[in-house]
Amino acid sequence: MSAQAIQPYTLLDDEDCEARILRARETLGERLVILGHHYQRDEVFRHADFTGDSLKLSRQAAASEADYIVFCGVHFMAEVADILSRPEQVSILPDMSAGCSMADMANLKNVERAWQELSEILDVEETITPVTYINSAADLKGFCGEHGGIVCTSTNARHVLEWSFNQKEKVLFFPDQHLGRNTAYTMDIALDEMVVWDYDKPRGGLSVAQIKKAKIILWKGFCSVHQMFQPEQIDNFKQKYPETKIISHPESPFEVCQKSDYIGSTEYIIKTIADAEPGTRWLVATELNLVNRLHDQFKHQGKNVHFMSPNVCMCSTMFRIDPQHMAWVLENLVDGHVVNQISVPTDVAVQAKLALARMLDVSP
Ligand code: 13P
Ligand code: SF4
Repeated sequence: MSAQAIQPYTLLDDEDCEARILRARETLGERLVILGHHYQRDEVFRHADFTGDSLKLSRQAAASEADYIVFCGVHFMAEVADILSRPEQVSILPDMSAGCSMADMANLKNVERAWQELSEILDVEETITPVTYINSAADLKGFCGEHGGIVCTSTNARHVLEWSFNQKEKVLFFPDQHLGRNTAYTMDIALDEMVVWDYDKPRGGLSVAQIKKAKIILWKGFCSVHQMFQPEQIDNFKQKYPETKIISHPESPFEVCQKSDYIGSTEYIIKTIADAEPGTRWLVATELNLVNRLHDQFKHQGKNVHFMSPNVCMCSTMFRIDPQHMAWVLENLVDGHVVNQISVPTDVAVQAKLALARMLDVSP
């Protein structure tokens, strides 16, 4: 019997999918682990065996004994699960179109071109550590592995940058300029020692003098969700509720992070609000599904959690993972069919694993 197609599943309602998911999980037992990122919608998130931010879920994938790792998140996360798990384990992304628009802003071709252009000015192997945010394709992690570089997440970016500057005097940081800038600034790197590499322009649109002076070269990438948060939104909210604590994901713009009381990953945001006193009020700059969940979770403790942007800011690619796709992949597994496997070519995986292992070594 061949694998079942997705099409009939798209016609199922959520309740039907829920029942099918529960049945399939029961049948698959310990052969299956479901990992869920905090930005997943509730109908999916509640089925996760483990939830977390990118770092926590990477560790979970590396530690898992299950035959099948179903990743409810986006493409680069399922790639990391494939790289860090054993070769016989299978990593699955329920919907292949669940990508990350920020990750797509850097690719091997334009990073290699940047490296080549920088090598015309500097001895790149001697002076630059390439650092890729985990939100990137596996071959970029491979590039970092090959060139003495490393991966970071929003949790460990500071530790990773400290390690990187201990290796070489400069860093090329891709694809998220905001995470790079917000983190470097906390390490007393001045804004005029940071430059932005515009990958659409020759030599990144920079002069030789700017490149020589820079300590960190930031790729011109950003998250379309976190880009929506603006400092004025904080000012407006605080006019009404001056006691509000501001907490932001470091993918948010510099001006927003500068006005924030706390900055950190999704896991950090959850923990900070969980540990806060009853009666506190929070304005949060991160994805809407997570903020809505925090609102519901903590309202009983008298904590008020608000979303920073007046516009809807959902991660549309995270949203692609729905109960219909989950039911589809799980019922296929029950029937002995693997659909939507994420498989990183071995040569890429070997180098990428090197850069990921360096990251795990320096992570708190
Ligand atoms: P976290 O690692 O903080 O969960 O962030 C992942 C991500 O994609 C945020 O946009
Ligand atoms: Fe990518 Fe932004 Fe979505 Fe995170 S929130 S997965 S960075 S598009």
